[in-house]
Amino acid sequence: MTDPTTTDLVKISEANGVMEIVWNRPDKKNALSNAMYRAATAALARAVEDKSIRVVLLASEGDSFTSGNDLADFAAASMGGEAPAAHGFIEAIIQFPKPIVAAVPGLAVGVGTTMLLHCDLVFVANDAKLTTPFVNLALVPEAASSMLMPARIGHARSFAMFALGDGFTGEQAAQLGLANAALPKEQVIPAAREAAKKLALRPMGAVMAAKKLMRDGEKILAQSRTESAIFGERLRSAEAMEAFTAFREKRAPDFSKL
Ligand code: COA
Repeated sequence: MTDPTTTDLVKISEANGVMEIVWNRPDKKNALSNAMYRAATAALARAVEDKSIRVVLLASEGDSFTSGNDLADFAAASMGGEAPAAHGFIEAIIQFPKPIVAAVPGLAVGVGTTMLLHCDLVFVANDAKLTTPFVNLALVPEAASSMLMPARIGHARSFAMFALGDGFTGEQAAQLGLANAALPKEQVIPAAREAAKKLALRPMGAVMAAKKLMRDGEKILAQSRTESAIFGERLRSAEAMEAFTAFREKRAPDFSKL
């Protein structure tokens, strides 16, 4: 029987105290399928337990970080199919006690951007594009981003991101404090690896205690669960179904009659 927590679409490796979790579905812009979430969630669980893993690096193959949740999986869930596995991954990343470094070479859509709010060091390409088009899909923000994004960049900018689908370049993201540095694309992975290596040599007890002090973990988890409940309802709405169908049919959605 195949292990449901492994897939070729996520590459997981460990070296020198750093676990790399690499989205590996470049032909679909690294859209995250349920199998991919499950693999990443299992890897994070292993990283919590394994003392030899001190830092996690989230990265990707190809030009995109991720185009967000696989919309075919969302469409299936909206019709009563398997519930999105995003939920488990989001809770794992929210509760992950060790430092996480992210390398974003290009597109970071939806959860691709909201997961960055749970990373501790973020390196983006200058021309990366960060968007959270939840309302475009008749959905609502997730991963506690409805709380964390306004706290990070203010209400007005966050609202434009969520409700209008406005995005930021990597350069803007660094200026706004969503990333540590915006770099030429080819320097993103080396910079992130260097930072992860440096972090792995730090006194991990102190690093983890500092991370914990900096985040109100309980409040973040509670907000994420509140969002999830509403997200689940929205997923089953006629509006969301129209948005997913429109994506599949490669046309603009028409919400006017709904
Ligand atoms: N789910 C499933 N498939 C996706 C996907 C997603 N989130 N994002 C991209 N893909 C697929 C496309 O269907 C296409 O597949 P095909 O080659 O079999 O037709 C392939 O990846 C390449 O995407 P394409 O749309 O041709 O690339 P693009 O550069 O023109 O646009 C995006 C890239 C990301 C802007 C566009 O694909 C998009 O808007 N995707 C949906 C993003 C989204 O809403 N995510 C959920 C957020 S909550």
